[in-house]
Parts: sequence; C-alpha cells; structure tokens
Amino acid sequence: MERKDVLIPEAELARQREFEENIKALFAGRGIRPTACVDTFGCQQNVADGQTLMGMLEQMGFTLTDSTDADVVILNTCAVREHAEQRVFGNLGMLTHVKQGHPGQVLALCGCMAQEPRVSKRIRESYRHVDLVFGPHALWRFPELLWQVYTTRRRVFSVEDAHGSLAEGLPVVREKGVKAWVSVMYGCNNFCSYCIVPYVRGRERSRDPERVLAEVRELVESGYKDITLLGQNVNSYGHDLDRNYDFADLLSDIDTIPGEYRIRFMSSHPKDATYKLFDTMARSTHMAHQLHLPFQSGNDRVLREMNRRYTRAQYLELIRYAKSVMPDLVLTSDVIIGFPGETEAEAMDTVSLVEEVGFDALFTFIYSPRPGTKAAEMPDPVPRAEKQKWFDRLLEVQNAASAALHAAYVGKTERVLVDGESDDADFPLAGRTEGNRLVRLKGDASLMGQFTDVRITGSNTWALYGEALPGGAQ
Ligand code: SAM
Ligand code: SF4
Ligand code: F3S
Repeated sequence: MERKDVLIPEAELARQREFEENIKALFAGRGIRPTACVDTFGCQQNVADGQTLMGMLEQMGFTLTDSTDADVVILNTCAVREHAEQRVFGNLGMLTHVKQGHPGQVLALCGCMAQEPRVSKRIRESYRHVDLVFGPHALWRFPELLWQVYTTRRRVFSVEDAHGSLAEGLPVVREKGVKAWVSVMYGCNNFCSYCIVPYVRGRERSRDPERVLAEVRELVESGYKDITLLGQNVNSYGHDLDRNYDFADLLSDIDTIPGEYRIRFMSSHPKDATYKLFDTMARSTHMAHQLHLPFQSGNDRVLREMNRRYTRAQYLELIRYAKSVMPDLVLTSDVIIGFPGETEAEAMDTVSLVEEVGFDALFTFIYSPRPGTKAAEMPDPVPRAEKQKWFDRLLEVQNAASAALHAAYVGKTERVLVDGESDDADFPLAGRTEGNRLVRLKGDASLMGQFTDVRITGSNTWALYGEALPGGAQ
C-alpha cells in the first residue's frame, strides 16, 4: 500500500475534531458535565491507545474517572491469550447491572479483541448492552463513532479488516510523572504461528522520523525522563518508508536531543536485530543499555514451527555480540512453554537456553490457542498439567538467575530515576536503574522525579534495595 494512502489526511482529522466539538455542545446544552472511564488491558501499545482515547474524551469535555458508573465506559481490550479475553467477557457481564442503574450510559468495547470477527459477532448477538464496538483501525474515528451512538441511539460497529493507517497529532493524556510511551510504528508482518496480533493490528506502518523526533523533543522539554519507544517489532522500523532509514538511524537522531533522559524500546524481533543497532546503543548517550529480545523457544524445530525465522545459535550469537559491545547490558525476554507438539526434551532446550544466557527477567507464558492462527490448527496432545510442570521448572531456573544477578549489584552505586513510592515503609521511594531494575530506596521525598546515585545494600529475586547518596541528585 502506498504511503499517501496510509496517512490519514488532515481534513479527515479536522472532521473528527468537529465531532468532538459537537459532543461537547450536546452535553453543554443539557447542562451536564459528563464523565468517562477507560479501562485498558494488554500491552504498552494498548496503554498508549488508551491515552489517546482519554485525550479525545477530554477534548469532548469529559472528566476522566475510574468509576464504571461514568457516562461513557470503554473497555480497551487485549486478545493475545484466552485468559485476557475471558476477563473482558466477565467484566462485560458485570457492567449489565451498572448500566441498568444508568440507562443513558454508553458502553464501548475497543482494542484487539474488538477486531476479531468471532468476538464482534458474540457481542452483537449476546451482549446487547454494548453500544459501540471498534477495532484499533478505527481508533482515530472514535469521535465520529460516539457521535453516531448519541444521535442515532443505535448500536455502532466499526470492525472491518484493514491494512491499517497512521493518524498524527491526536490528543494524548499521559501518566503523571516522568515516564512516557511513544509509538514509532504500528502493526506486524511476522505472523508467528501462535500469535493473533498481525490479524488484529494490520500491517507494519512506521511513523515519519520527523514526527517521532518532534514528539520525543517535546516530552524531554516538558520533563519526561524515561521514554519508551513502542512497536511490535521496532527492528523493522523504516522498512516501509520512502528513504533509506532504519531503527538504528532513528536512535542516533533521538540521541542528539539535549537533556538528561533515558530511551528504551520494545519489542525487538531477533530476526531483524542488527549489529548496527547494538553499536548505536553502545555509543549513544541516552539509550539505556537494556534489551528486551524475545526468543520464545530454545529449540530449532519449535522455532521453525513458530515461524520465528532464526535459530538458537543465531539468537545466542546476537546476545554474544550485544554483550561484547555493552558489558553492562540488562537482558529480558518472552518465552512460550507448551507450543503444540512440543516435547519435554524441547521444552528443556528452552530451560537450558535460559540457564546459558542469564536473563535479568523473563516474561513467561503457557501457550494459549488463538482461533484463526496457524498453531491453533496443530495437534496439541500434551495435557495442561504436564505443561505446567515444564513451566514451573523454567520459573525455578529463572528465579534463581534473577536472584543471583540482583545479588551482584550489592555494594555498587547505580544511577536511579526515582519515579514513585514503594510499599515498603523502610525503603519509601521506588525507582529504576538504567537497566530498568526496580530499586526500593531510602531517601528524601524531594528526590521524586530526579536521577540520583543510589548505593545498593540488598536484593531479592524481584528488586534491589538501597540508599540515596547525599548530593547524588546532581
Ligand atoms: N511483538 C512482540 C514480539 O514479537 O516480541 C510481542 C508480542 S506479544 C504482545 C507478547 C508476548 O506474548 C509474545 O512475545 C509471546 O511470548 C506471547 N504470546 C503471543 N501469543 C501467545 C499465545 N498464543 N500463547 C501464549 N503466549 C503468547
Ligand atoms: Fe506476534 Fe510475532 Fe508479531 Fe510479535 S512478531 S506481534 S509475536 S506475530
Ligand atoms: Fe494484546 Fe493487542 Fe497488545 S493483543 S498484547 S493489546 S497488541
């Protein structure tokens, strides 16, 4: 698809702003100050989408709240595993009663689940109290869709399958504090055989580098200090641009923005990770020496069946190189246990890779069949209880590795960005190291939002403990 057809024209976005004004006037005419609640599930990309929805709602005059008794309630959903979907259906069931006590309420379902034909059919037929259903492709049209609900009082569905588009300049309500998310690309072309994401998020589209740079600059200037660049596979950033420009180039350009801040990114696909990327990270001033590089399985046959397009040896070579240019690199990854047809010996190859690499932390999942994907059609004879045993073995190995890596910090001094309060009265502040390790620390509340040097005095599997050094915030 040509780039000009991917970018939503400014005239269309201006039309959406008119719908925002119309809705604002509608409530003002009724003398009501409307409220809205956005409940987001799933990954950071969805969190970023939720922040855009909140931005649009504010433009329409809504006050944001956590109460499900709001005038507009939006469930921004995730489809990646069955459990995530079941939770949403459970919530929808509970919201029937809330809506009975608030007949004017608009209940909307959006996000990745909404884009699945199986789900939108079920909502249409069995959840008649849901007024609006729209997938990620229609996010930028939310004002128009909400206006349709208010003016027709009919149920509105916008869930057509699509390549996907890029809408720039939409309003955003960011979290308070020092952390921000910036999407650099949308969609995924990889079709890993277990994964629903390419079906619900469309094809890869990269934002123009100038747009990304302007957004990061603005964030740094307004005090954000920990910025994460988002995409399903940031390593293929730029492949669809009309110039020779890749993710490493984007990082180099961002690095020229002055200020004290850190840049992270996720996720990276090993098949597209390059030495150029690692070299760029190593020599930059602002890139955190942290890498989330999902490997999914340590067995070559399973990797082939997953359609991952790299081998165990290639993965290990990438890690070797990355660590050679960044000896302080903090590594995390995603793993799936119990892929259809996986044997115990193959699952133990995954465990042995974890032992060999020494990840600082792992996101571990038991395979969940997603209707419509290739893997969901594959024979899956191993009982859940057996998969659970392999999974528990993996966790045991990883927890021991995390505890040992954390213990090695004790006695060192780390530069920590203090970003919140901890739930431990003896270590009242919480922060993150450059590698994104959680630190609970003793220190003055005035350190909140600042970088400071912290002497690490203790650790466990999940966190480090320490004391802010006097004068360490300079
Ligand atoms: N695009 C990213 C990548 O490739 O690394 C992450 C995509 S997904 C939102 C996050 C993780 O969920 C994946 O890395 C994978 O480990 C896991 N996942 C995806 N589909 C799954 C499934 N059907 N069952 C279990 N885990 C799954
Ligand atoms: Fe899913 Fe694979 Fe795409 Fe990640 S790269 S979103 S796991 S299909
Ligand atoms: Fe879930 Fe969609 Fe993210 S399926 S993990 S919310 S891209």
